[in-house]
Amino acid sequence: MGKLTLDRILQSQGFGTRKACGVLIGAGEVSIAGQTITDSSAAIETNGLVFKIFDEAWLYRSRVYIALNKPANFECSRKASHHPGVLTILPEQFTRREVQPVGRLDHDTTGLLLMSDDGPFIHMQSSPKRHIQKVYVATTHEPVTPALVGRLLAGVKLHDETEPLAAKTCRMLDTHQLEIVLEQGKYHQVKRMLAAAGNHCVALRRVQIGGLKLDLLGLAEGEWCYLDEAQLAQLTTADG
Ligand code: URA
Repeated sequence: MGKLTLDRILQSQGFGTRKACGVLIGAGEVSIAGQTITDSSAAIETNGLVFKIFDEAWLYRSRVYIALNKPANFECSRKASHHPGVLTILPEQFTRREVQPVGRLDHDTTGLLLMSDDGPFIHMQSSPKRHIQKVYVATTHEPVTPALVGRLLAGVKLHDETEPLAAKTCRMLDTHQLEIVLEQGKYHQVKRMLAAAGNHCVALRRVQIGGLKLDLLGLAEGEWCYLDEAQLAQLTTADG
C-alpha cells in the first residue's frame, strides 16, 4: 500500500472518521516505535506498521480475515433482532471497517465462522460454484442409524428446493451424533436435511471449512483470531 497520512491510516483501521482520528493524534494518543506522533498529516509507511493507540498495539492490516469460534445465542445478520450480533464479540474497530460474517450460522449454531472486510474474499468464499466443504457435527434427538446416514448420503428433498440435497460425506460419531459434510450452504440446511431424513437436530457445531479445522485454531467459544496466509490457503483445500 505504501505511505499514507497517519489520520487516513487510523481511519482505515476503524478508529473513526478522519477528523476524529486527527483529534486522537493531536491529543497525543498515537505512537509509533515508542514515539508519540501529533502530526496527522505525517506520511507513514503502512507495510508492517505497528502503531499504539491508547497504549494498545495494532498491526496495520489492509484487510482483515478472522476466525471466530461462535457461541450460541449470537446472530450473524447485520441487523440482529432477537440476540446480539456476532460483531459485538469483536473490537468495535471491526464494525467501523465493515467486517461482516462470511455466510451465516443460525443463532443457536456454534463453531467456526469466518469474518472479513474483503468483499471479493467474502463473495468467493460464499460462492456455490466453489463447492467449499463445510463440516458439521450434529447432535440428534433420535438415535443415529445406518438408514439415516444412508438417506443423507442419497439425498433428501427439501420443500423449496427443486433437486434433492445430499451430504458429501456423513458418518456416525456416537449414538446421537453425526458428522455431515456439505458443499452447499442453503438456509438451515443441516437441520432441514435431518428433519427430512426423519430425525431432529438438537445442537449443531461447524468444525471445519475447506481444510481449516476449528480444533487446530485453539479457540475457546467466543474467542477469535486473525487468519494468516497459510490458514487462508487451507480454506479452499478439501482436507488440509
Ligand atoms: N445448517 C443449519 O441448519 N444451520 C446452520 O447454522 C448451518 C448449517
